[in-house]
Amino acid sequence: MSHASSMISENIETYLKEHEQKDLLRFITCGSVDDGKSTLIGRLLHDSKMIYEDQLAAITRDSKTSGTTGDKVDLALLVDGLQSEREQGITIDVAYRFFSTDKRKFIIADTPGHEQYTRNMATGASTASLAIILIDARHGIQTQTRRHSYICSLLGIRHLVVAVNKMDLVDYSQERFDEIVTEYKAFSKNLNDADLYFVPISALEGDNVVNPSENMDWYQDGPLLRLLESVDVKHDSNLEDLRFPVQYVNRPNLNFRGYCGTLAAGILHPGDAIRVLGSGRRSTVERIVTFDGDLEAAYPGQAITVTLEDEIDISRGDMLVAADSELETTTAFTADLVWMHDTPMEVGREYELKAGTSVVSGRVARIIHQTDVNTLERHPAENLPLNGIARCQIEVKQPLGLDPYKRSPHSGNFIVIDRMTNVTVGAGMVVETLSASNIVWHDMAVTKQRRAERNHQKPCIIWFTGLSGAGKSTTANALERQLFGMGYSTYLLDGDNVRHGLCGDLGFSDKHRQENIRRVGEVAKLMVDAGMITLVSFISPFQRDRQLVRDMVESGEFIEVFVNTSLEVCEERDPKGLYQKARAGQIDDFTGITSPYETPKNPEIEIDAGELSVEESVKTLISHLKRLNVIA
Ligand code: ADX
Repeated sequence: MSHASSMISENIETYLKEHEQKDLLRFITCGSVDDGKSTLIGRLLHDSKMIYEDQLAAITRDSKTSGTTGDKVDLALLVDGLQSEREQGITIDVAYRFFSTDKRKFIIADTPGHEQYTRNMATGASTASLAIILIDARHGIQTQTRRHSYICSLLGIRHLVVAVNKMDLVDYSQERFDEIVTEYKAFSKNLNDADLYFVPISALEGDNVVNPSENMDWYQDGPLLRLLESVDVKHDSNLEDLRFPVQYVNRPNLNFRGYCGTLAAGILHPGDAIRVLGSGRRSTVERIVTFDGDLEAAYPGQAITVTLEDEIDISRGDMLVAADSELETTTAFTADLVWMHDTPMEVGREYELKAGTSVVSGRVARIIHQTDVNTLERHPAENLPLNGIARCQIEVKQPLGLDPYKRSPHSGNFIVIDRMTNVTVGAGMVVETLSASNIVWHDMAVTKQRRAERNHQKPCIIWFTGLSGAGKSTTANALERQLFGMGYSTYLLDGDNVRHGLCGDLGFSDKHRQENIRRVGEVAKLMVDAGMITLVSFISPFQRDRQLVRDMVESGEFIEVFVNTSLEVCEERDPKGLYQKARAGQIDDFTGITSPYETPKNPEIEIDAGELSVEESVKTLISHLKRLNVIA
């Protein structure tokens, strides 16, 4: 790398030292291939002499075959390293590139311009402190210019450099440049207060990128690189509010207990008084330990181990703040959410939220508005599709220590994880935390449907009816075991058990049987409401009583299983000796003998438990339940 190479060869130590001490600017480039984004990055690297000789030779060669710039070296080829991008002419992922000048080190997040890649852009922008918004001078401000600017401002990028490119194609016209500047300023009023810069450039010709342009003497503010070298980003991190999320507790022996993590905000010194958010316990910082020795002060972004003067209870996920900090934990907040998954975000659905080192369950209680990233218009929305951005009210089950993202990005952002697949599906930036009086978790209806969703099943009643000794209980029992084993949440209500408790006051007269079934029906209905697959095993001899229960629940939720075992078989089995007693007149109103059994007319399922083994009955039942879409 020519500009540094003499120093590298002469005094590598000095070079490395200087290099290490240079500060770092992370920036993002926004714009499409057509705007000349890759060419701009290539130009930056080339003119700042960051290209190896062999790289230059290679792209000079490639320019002739796959370049788009005629006889000139196509600098975009330097950047469009992704093979597919070369082939398709588009950028498809975030690529990070590194270069440095005498003044600064730079990391460029090169992100795609196409609309469907909002999430990639958000990823690239999340660590950047400056954004270059590229505009083709011929086309002026485009929809995507607005979109990129909006996402950058959403992510709290304070410094925006609007690079009006291809000035060579508009005859280096100052008028055209001014026109674009005026239009952009008008539009950017709607964005968070940004620190704006405008530079007219030609990436292809090299005007105002690294070297000042000879073609635009009307512009005197210096080339783009000078701006990148001088923009003051030091004061962008939050140095005021101490936020130290504990990632893990390091306890190698009884004499040492250190809390490890990355300082999210504030400056930490030994001797500082701290408080543990949530528990409120207090102590004083004893040491700040790092691999390279103890520190006198730690700054945001530094990975440190903190020891305290007192042994207090602190664990992973806790946050240390200044003792006099006013920050409290919260369970409700508003946030801007960028959705990153094909499956849209659903209001009310439970997701996992990871903020700092804490992971909690939460949900979007409502979408306040979705923002059309192209027009910046806001509109109501029921859910949030891939690449959608919305301001949402979010509620979590365990309290979190959060800051507004704008004030403290590292303690004001979170990711959303799907509970089933563990995939990151969204990213959020806290707008405002809500006070306890605004918390509405309690008034949210936990509906049957939501319980069912959590259990991943369709709650219903599987009602076994049949003669005493028909095999209802045995079959219901075996079916429950099978369903439970398959991961379903089930409960079995059985005549013999319920009659000992809830219905202990009832006998076997028609009236009492009716009341017995009514009570059991009501209980089963509650169970369905609780999201359970509820198995019920009762003789329930009367059609009218079974119908009564069927009518209590929604259509499709009552599945009548007629365990059709003939009276002869039941009597022959007589497991409890009751048929014998009934025949002997020792029991009154015995079903099948002295009390009727009304055969179900249209049961959803009928099994002949006289013929089938228990296993066969269960198999038959399972296939019927699949047919009825009760189980998958
Ligand atoms: S139901 O008719 O009201 O549905 P249930 O299923 O609760 O009856 O109770 C039936 C159980 O009670 C039988 O399995 C048997 O063990 C016992 N039982 C005692 N007396 C009778 C009777 N007279 N008729 C039927 N079952 C009886």
